[in-house]
Order: sequence, then C-alpha cells, then structure tokens
Amino acid sequence: MNHFIYRENELYCEDVPVQRIAAQIGTPFYLYSHATLTRHFKAFNEAFEGIDRLVCFSAKANTNLAILKLFANLDCGLDIVSGGELYRGIQAGFAPNHIVYSGVGKRVDEIDYALKSGILMFNLESLDELKLINQRAGRLNQRARIAIRVNPDVDPKTHPYISTGLKKNKFGIDTAGALEGYRLAGSLEHIEVIGIDCHIGSQITEAGPFEDALNSIKTLIKQLKSELGIQIQYVDMGGGLGITYADETPPSLKEYAKAFLENLEGMDLTLILEPGRVLVGNAGILVTRVLYKKAGKGKNFIIVDAGMNDLLRPTLYNAFHAIEPIVRSQAPLTVADVVGPICESGDFLAVDRNLTEVDADDLLAVMSTGAYGFVMSSNYCSRPRVAEVMVKNNQYHVVKKRETYQDLVKGESIPTFME
Ligand code: LLP
Repeated sequence: MNHFIYRENELYCEDVPVQRIAAQIGTPFYLYSHATLTRHFKAFNEAFEGIDRLVCFSAKANTNLAILKLFANLDCGLDIVSGGELYRGIQAGFAPNHIVYSGVGKRVDEIDYALKSGILMFNLESLDELKLINQRAGRLNQRARIAIRVNPDVDPKTHPYISTGLKKNKFGIDTAGALEGYRLAGSLEHIEVIGIDCHIGSQITEAGPFEDALNSIKTLIKQLKSELGIQIQYVDMGGGLGITYADETPPSLKEYAKAFLENLEGMDLTLILEPGRVLVGNAGILVTRVLYKKAGKGKNFIIVDAGMNDLLRPTLYNAFHAIEPIVRSQAPLTVADVVGPICESGDFLAVDRNLTEVDADDLLAVMSTGAYGFVMSSNYCSRPRVAEVMVKNNQYHVVKKRETYQDLVKGESIPTFME
C-alpha cells in the first residue's frame, strides 16, 4: 500500500498534486512519500512482534539523508557497506550500536572509522578480513564485535546479478569454512564473536529460500555451541524480500516473518534483518517529461527527459517499472518504447509498453523507483543528477537539489603542465 493515488485523474503524492511539484522545480525528479515510508517500516517491524529484533534499513537502497533520518527517528537500525554510508548514517542520527557493516571489500580506513564509531558489528566475509579487523582493533585497543557472513548455497531464484547466496557468488564463507572461521575468531585477542550473518539475494519472491537459509544457519548456531562453545547472540538474516513491480507475488510480511518466528522461538537470540527494497521501493517514483515522439519502422518511441543515467535498473537488469501518466486521459492505447536522451540503445525505461498516447510536455511517473533508483544514478553524458523531493501530507521539500553544470566540474582541475 502506498500513497501515490489518483484524484480525479491526477496523480497525487499524499495531498500534493505531482504536477504542481513538476511545475515548480522542473523535471526529472525522484519523489518520496513520508507516509508510505513510515507505514512500510512499521508494518515490517510489527510483523516480527514477539521476538527480540533489530530492523536495520539497508542504506544502499536509498541513502538520501532525509530518508535515513526518517528511519532513525523510528528507532530503526542501519545496514551499511561503506565508510560513506557510515558517514551518512551518523549524520542522520542512527545510534552507532544499531549499525551493522557488511561487504566483501572493506578498506583499512573504513574499518578504523567503524571501530572508532562503535558500530554494533562487522559482518565479515573472509578470513583475511577477520585477521585485518583483529589487527586494526588491536591498534585501537578495542575488541571488534563480529559476525561471519555465511554463504548457505541456497538458490534465491532471482536475477543472477542480485543473487548472493550461491557458492559461485563472491559473498560470505561456505558453512564448513565458516566453522573454521569461528574457530579462528575465537582465538583472536581483539575479536568478540557475537553473531552470524547471511544474505542470499534481493527481490526474492518466495519464502522457501529464506527458510532454507535459516535452517542452515540454525544448524551452524548449534554446532558452534556444541563444538566450539560459542554462544551466538545475534542472527542477521539480511534483506532480500521482493516487491510487486508488475505481477510478482512476494510472500506477505506475515508469511515472511512466520518462518523466522517459528524457527527461532526460545533460542535466546536477537534477530537482525536488513530490508532495503521492501521499505523504500514502492515509496518513490521518478517523474519525467515527454520531450518528443517518434514513429520508427514498426516501433514507436516516446523520448523523455530521464535516461539510464537517472534510472539504471531497466538497462542493467531488464527490470520492469510501470509507467503511468501524471494526468490520465481518454486517449487511445499505444505500444511504445519509453527512451531517454542518452546515446546508447540500452537507454530505455520501458520496451514495447502499452500506454495511453502522450504528447510532448506530458508528465509520466516511473513507478516503484524508491529503491536502487537515485543511488545508482550517474553523471554519464554530463547530465546533472536529478532532484529528490519528499512529501509529507500537503507539504513537499526538496531533499536533494538538482545538480548544476558547476557541480559537474567540481573537483576537476587542469594540470599546471598544460598551461
Ligand atoms: N543486506 C545486504 C548484505 C545486501 O547486500 C543487500 C542488497 C541488502 C541487505 C538489501 O537487500 P534488499 O532488501 O533491498 O533486497 N541494485 C539491485 C539490488 C542490489 C541489492 C544488493 N544488496 C536492484 O536494483 O535490484
């Protein structure tokens, strides 16, 4: 359920007509609904009622400070994968002991920053990383709290680029290796083992893979206790729950939570979850304006002012995003490709899509773009990155200004040897 709704054929975000924002700030822009974000977090958190838990929003899905702040205000935790995300998280007011740090390639400076900040735990992904964290914690006279990310070799049945829990993927350590990792971790002076971690992929639309992963983690937790005397306090099951972009039918929050609630009952553990897409995906849209129409040989093109540099998902994953007119008309249906201004044939937002006919200057909404939208945008073709806007009730606020041409060249300089 989200708060992008038509009132008399005009799309509103909560109580603000989207058209009004477009007229005032120009296009393209990402638009987020405060009520939808709040509702999604509360529904997710409440689905796990009855178990000790910490929901850590996966920052990578949308790192805008206003969005992070909204979640921090709801006592949410944060899942980060870089020093930059840690910086943003701290700026937004997350309690450091509600921050977990995943990722295969943490740099020394990032590890030090996280240690100094006092994050809850590192989800580490290799034995080399374990040894390095031990060394850095020693230098800082600390004990680093860690979990090992286990790769349970479970097929999440999602796009291969966003599947992470198969043994052919670069993530985590297989179950046998993890046991060895914990043995080593237990012997290291500056390491405190507190958790176990697993994240099998993204946009997962069945409950089965989560249950399979959980079963393998449960077996390991028991083994750790019986074989190594290690008592796990936090079990981090990552993110990955899918959303409906077209006709997918992901498990409901209740169905998703059920597997965890039933399996972890009585285990004296805190469950950590790292949802990204499910919290923000359907809480955002990308608003774009039609520039031109062009009828090709057997193809109609609608050329809009947003391109693959603004929303990469269709190009990168062939992802489907519904495209809706901001003002609905009685015009007949047509089939067209909705394409951007970039000089690549892969620059499309939709291919062979059924749409009501549009004219130049009409506004379109690219739906379900709150997750992995702006964060994956770039300046390709020297296109300034677009604005981001948040609506709450009848107010809107530009939470990130549209970049300017000056922003594009910021930090660049001509070497003196060329003068
Ligand atoms: N935790 C970890 C360790 C992750 O790597 C991810 C996502 C998440 C949590 C959050 O997953 P979510 O709940 O959002 O599925 N750019 C791709 C998605 C990449 C996901 C990467 N990891 C896309 O646009 O579909």
